[in-house]
Amino acid sequence: MSDKTARPENSPDHLHGHSETSACCQFMRPVMDQIRHNPGADIIRYGRRVPNVLALGTGETDTPTPEFITRPVADALTAGHTFYGPILGRTDLRQTIAEYYKSIYGVNLSLDRVIVTASGTSAIHLSLTSILEKGDEVVAILPLWKNLLGAIRLAQAETHGVDLHLSADGKEWTLDLNEVFAAVTPKTRAIVINTPNNPTGWVMQEDDMRAIMDFARSRGLWVVSDEVYGRLVYGEKRAPSFLDVAKPDDKLFIVNSFSKNWAMTGWRLGWLIAPAAAEQRIYDLVLYDNMGPPNFLQFGAIAALKDGEHFLEEQKTRFRANRDIVCAALSGIKGMHYAAPQSSFYVFFKMDGEPDCMAFAKRLIDDHALGLAPGCSFGRNYEGFMRLCYAVSEPLLRDALDRLGAALR
Ligand SMILES: Cc1ncc(COP(=O)(O)O)c(C=O)c1O
Repeated sequence: MSDKTARPENSPDHLHGHSETSACCQFMRPVMDQIRHNPGADIIRYGRRVPNVLALGTGETDTPTPEFITRPVADALTAGHTFYGPILGRTDLRQTIAEYYKSIYGVNLSLDRVIVTASGTSAIHLSLTSILEKGDEVVAILPLWKNLLGAIRLAQAETHGVDLHLSADGKEWTLDLNEVFAAVTPKTRAIVINTPNNPTGWVMQEDDMRAIMDFARSRGLWVVSDEVYGRLVYGEKRAPSFLDVAKPDDKLFIVNSFSKNWAMTGWRLGWLIAPAAAEQRIYDLVLYDNMGPPNFLQFGAIAALKDGEHFLEEQKTRFRANRDIVCAALSGIKGMHYAAPQSSFYVFFKMDGEPDCMAFAKRLIDDHALGLAPGCSFGRNYEGFMRLCYAVSEPLLRDALDRLGAALR
């Protein structure tokens, strides 16, 4: 699966960087051309043209945010919490996040290490923007959610991808740590990892985390670990976290989000765990970005962290049952390759005879009103893959699988 041609992952050709530029855009930063095409977003937009499209290309559940989370927000609005809030988030929410880490992860975090952000996406952007400069290189484990790759590019750094491998029996995704270490050059500034991984459901184990953290420490590299699916691991309370193997002053950013665990995608709230020394720098960036997360929404976020375990368990049970339905359906299709996901709510599959994911994604929309995410969104070597999000009701999921089956027959 590895690409031996050593082109940077986010070079313009990979990003389908059509260089057509309208008159006004000629005056914009050239790097804007290179983040122009996001195949996943393009397909979502393409699907919106079709009435009643069954959209399983977006990474969210169809469950609305539960009432125990929305009510405190309504109360906060009524109570007049409509003014600017603290730039790095409300202290009571920062405190609650620290307590959550103590209870779920067994780690003590001082409040200056906990930063509330206006989405996990914002946490990605803030962490990468604060450490990357033009000409820096980033080693990233692929496949990787496109927005992480785009954020690296926007910071004018180059991504050098290290691919996970789909085992010969097709049962699991694996990582060769030696490939990660070999990809590091004197220009490398950071290693970026998303574990549990969107789109494969692969989960990095603690020993590998320790090896990466030790290596990064010895080379003075940052580790940026996106752990937004860290609670959606099947059969465990949580996935391993880089916090399990790190010291408080290690060059480590943990990206997290309220979106996936508690059905809060539309809220645009997340958080960042950083070394205390980075707090002021992140503050400086947020001042010029969005001036901090919405004040009143944070009352709901506190409720999610404090009272959300039961809901999270219910969601996980549902996702796991759906995972089994998807795997049963896919295993009945000849020429289908996938590994049963260990976490998250995606299945990433490859079908013999369908090498062009964009063409396949468009055909699924046009002929079967089914929206899936194209694999090329996750790295250059995934042109033949598609991602299906199964965090939906069972009837909807079965309908989607019927449509996929019909398309492949
Ligand atoms: C790996 C990964 N990181 C971050 C995010 C962003 O989450 P948020 O909705 O908080 O921006 C997503 C959303 O799909 C994701 O898949």
